[in-house]
Amino acid sequence: MIGVFDSGVGGLSVLSALVDSMPEADFVYFADTAYVPYGSKSDAVIRERVIAIGNELVKRGCRLIVVACNTATVSAVRTLRAEHPDLPVVGIEPGVKPAAAQTQSGKIAVLVTESTARSERLARLIAEHASAVQVFVEPCPGWAAHVEQLALDDPALEVDARARLEPLLAAGVDRVVLGCTHYGFLRHVLQPIVAGRAELVDVAAAVARQAQRLHPHAPGRGEIQLLASAAPERLAAALPALGLSHLASRVVRTQPAAR
Ligand code: DGL
Repeated sequence: MIGVFDSGVGGLSVLSALVDSMPEADFVYFADTAYVPYGSKSDAVIRERVIAIGNELVKRGCRLIVVACNTATVSAVRTLRAEHPDLPVVGIEPGVKPAAAQTQSGKIAVLVTESTARSERLARLIAEHASAVQVFVEPCPGWAAHVEQLALDDPALEVDARARLEPLLAAGVDRVVLGCTHYGFLRHVLQPIVAGRAELVDVAAAVARQAQRLHPHAPGRGEIQLLASAAPERLAAALPALGLSHLASRVVRTQPAAR
């Protein structure tokens, strides 16, 4: 069994990629909806939550954990690995490396939560993989909350997205990294804004490939259990709204999880 978690529904974009690569595996998806959004929380709070969720997933029999949240990865993946030294843990970090390798203009933008924007780990990622290009880090407060509320077509979101992206595009950015797993569900808003000028970069599929490499034999029945620290029924109901109806038929259980 593979454990996957995020602050809320964002990591379902990663779960979808995982199911595509490992259709036979069983998954437990934990949404920490009592604490969403992580982007405005302190590192200490995020670390505490990540430890609690890691312990819960291990208790439920998970043999691999996928941290389907950039914010939790940059703040706490090291702590999680230290807590469970024998457990393979795959994190997700903003796709700075592929964007820096692909850019033609030498300018990339990274859309992230506030917490990821100020993290040392993102600064290190940029220094290691993108020192030859100009990187614009753009925190996007409120975007994850919009996705969480399934307010995907809110005109205010489109206005805010345009206000953030236009100056970056005018500066010559030709790669825009989706550095938060919630933002994968905002493609319908972001793609028309960047069309013809930049490409969106998402690493969900690469994370799924890495998980498969670490856990090549994950026998199961292709089942998904959904857990949430608040309102688990909203999680199951969100699947069709997020374009993930194909996952709904795999869901065998939806349960509240201990906080
Ligand atoms: N989905 C998360 C990420 O990838 C965090 C969103 C939030 O809770 O602020 O960063």
